[in-house]
Amino acid sequence: MTKLQNAIVGGVRAVIGHVPASWLPGGTPDPLIDKRVALGGQQTRIDGPDKVRGAARFAAEVPMKNLLYASFVHSAIARGRIADLDVSAAEAAPGVALVMTHHNAPKMAVPPPIGMTNLKAAGNHTLPIMQDAKIRWNGQVVAVVLAETREQADHAATLIRVGYEAVQARTQFEEGKASAYTPDSMLVEKNRLDKGNAAQKLAEAAFKIDAIYTTPWENHNPIEPHASTIVWQDGKLIVHDATQMIHGTAGSLAKIFGLKVGDVQVSSPYVGGGFGAKGLWDHQILGVAAAKLADRPVRVALSRASMHRLIGGRTQTEQRVALAADADGTLKALLHHGYGVKPLHSICDEGFSLTGRSLYACESFDIVQHYVDLDLLANSFMRGPGETPGTFAIECAMDELAHAIGMDPIELRRRNVATRDPVSGAPHSQSAMMEAYDLGAARFGWHRRMAQPGTRREGEWLIGMGCASGTFPFMRMPGTSVRVTIDNSGDVNVASAAHEMGMGTATVQRQHAADRLGLPLDRVTVTIGDSSLPFASFAGGSSQTASLAAAISAASGKLVAELLRLAGNDTPLAGLKPAEVEFADGGLRGVEDPARNESFASILRRSGRAELSVVGESGAPLEIIKYSMHSTSANFCELRVSEVTGEIRVNRLVGAFDCGRILNARTAISQFKGGMIMGLGMALTEETLLDERSGRIMSTSLADYHVPVHLDVPDIEILWTDIPDPRTPLGARGIGEIGTTGVAAAIANAVFNATGKRVRDLPLTLDKLL
Ligand code: MOS
Repeated sequence: MTKLQNAIVGGVRAVIGHVPASWLPGGTPDPLIDKRVALGGQQTRIDGPDKVRGAARFAAEVPMKNLLYASFVHSAIARGRIADLDVSAAEAAPGVALVMTHHNAPKMAVPPPIGMTNLKAAGNHTLPIMQDAKIRWNGQVVAVVLAETREQADHAATLIRVGYEAVQARTQFEEGKASAYTPDSMLVEKNRLDKGNAAQKLAEAAFKIDAIYTTPWENHNPIEPHASTIVWQDGKLIVHDATQMIHGTAGSLAKIFGLKVGDVQVSSPYVGGGFGAKGLWDHQILGVAAAKLADRPVRVALSRASMHRLIGGRTQTEQRVALAADADGTLKALLHHGYGVKPLHSICDEGFSLTGRSLYACESFDIVQHYVDLDLLANSFMRGPGETPGTFAIECAMDELAHAIGMDPIELRRRNVATRDPVSGAPHSQSAMMEAYDLGAARFGWHRRMAQPGTRREGEWLIGMGCASGTFPFMRMPGTSVRVTIDNSGDVNVASAAHEMGMGTATVQRQHAADRLGLPLDRVTVTIGDSSLPFASFAGGSSQTASLAAAISAASGKLVAELLRLAGNDTPLAGLKPAEVEFADGGLRGVEDPARNESFASILRRSGRAELSVVGESGAPLEIIKYSMHSTSANFCELRVSEVTGEIRVNRLVGAFDCGRILNARTAISQFKGGMIMGLGMALTEETLLDERSGRIMSTSLADYHVPVHLDVPDIEILWTDIPDPRTPLGARGIGEIGTTGVAAAIANAVFNATGKRVRDLPLTLDKLL
């Protein structure tokens, strides 16, 4: 059992009784896999019209009387202490209501860290916030200015004079490697895997690849920068936040400010992109503290620059991958060693070394990763954490191995694809990566690829094709709850503190609830996005859909029992047991005798009830203990490289996914495409530039940090196997993050096929090709 599994089972033993039998070993699959009506359709997004009309209210837009606007002053050194602080000019500036520094900030506890067993916390680091004069990274907030307008706050912030006593900071990755640390375990797995004498098998192998792959530091750039509108009301705290961790944020703020959890409300109905970054960072905490001091509501809306200095990114990595194979391509050894940055105060792991543990069968493994502790901002989660940089290294190495053997890269994968968990031996719940390859290859036209690199050309352009696998584990979080309410006209509302970051959360769960309860779509509403609703875990780890689905499924079981009880004896249903009825046509009916039925409306009216409410909870994800559960994909890229300038233009991308059942084709395509575009950015342009002398991030705007824009994004085609996973609710696994994995490798492999040049260092900028 992995650490995660241990932790989840240990942490939620109390709710094990609620796990639906259908997902347990030996249980039958979720019946909705084959009975769906609304699910599988292309429902448009419920939130679409409001967003298009500008009626959807985001955190920085919530109207509030008497509001003050916050601006931050960031440390200019990486390590040391604040020696002098002169805020008098700022305090005297027009419109300024308050300047907060460590001299007058209220006492705040250290943020409770987010963890797989602590879903009610959301902290990304464990440092005290504005409690002392110490500086721990370049960019740390040293002063908060509140003023009547944002412009006044920004201006006053420029008037603050800070003197530092700097000490030698550790900001150099290369240097830090020598004193890197090696944790026993990462967030979800044991770190070291040593099985079957990989070093010896590598030494003896007929074919081997042994290379170093590097990926840069990357920063988050959601369309909506982080924002909160904060108000204290009669000792209670209300935070309108842009967050993918509503309850985690509420729970953390309660701890930090010594409040009862019930006295903190976090509201977040719409989030303009999260990707792992929209958790709890210093800006919410400082905003809450400043609002308390000023005794007025406060709006914090981070500038792009503040966002880069305060919100962590994906660590840079240096990964050695060594693969050994027989002449027929059978893998004999997989070695994956590497370094990332993880300051000791940082919570988030970049578990790139997990990638190679599930994709391919192999006789031996030697896997471990090390972390460099630097005086930098804490890491964040970033779409496909671990597997995104991990697949770059492993999947480039697989391409190199195929080339060395003289074998088609897809054929090499076919010969080695895992048919069960390569490490534990556990069976897959469902896995069909090669079906994804076959689908994708046919659509893409893989047969047109020239095996010999550098042989296809159109004028100055060299044309290349590449492919790579993607992978991401299945997760379903315990404790996610929904309240399902039926009113006496038979309409249903589903409510949960779930998150909408643009992926279609409410849309898909409305489809689900309609099918689960035998109703047409227009009889179901979904309410999400507020901590006053039943607990939901974070929208992360591609787990939200499965967690909510499990909770709705559990609620539906309770509804049956309650409805039968309310129906009493004066009903055609009289005498039927819960197992003998099913939902249909807005009511219950006998499975054996459908003529015995009664509608929800009739049952509620007869019993004099205005409504009936039950709460269902997702329970422990026991299925992940028995089964190896991963979404997988096959990525294809065709591109051209200018022989004159080295410029890379991607012509097309094809992504073929094996993620169980797809619940809504329209929202799924959007998720997959968005993920692949993030992979495209990683491959070609995204890179956080750090001045290693000062620890200062230099690329703090969208001009300096280039994310793909329309002109960069080619035609992207999305395909899927749509094979249901019998061990998950609705037969679906997660789709939020896998889109990003494997894309950078497919692009790098296509560059090699076009040019014969193997670039192992992201991003693939043109200087590396000249
Ligand atoms: Mo994802 S990195 O768990 O939002």
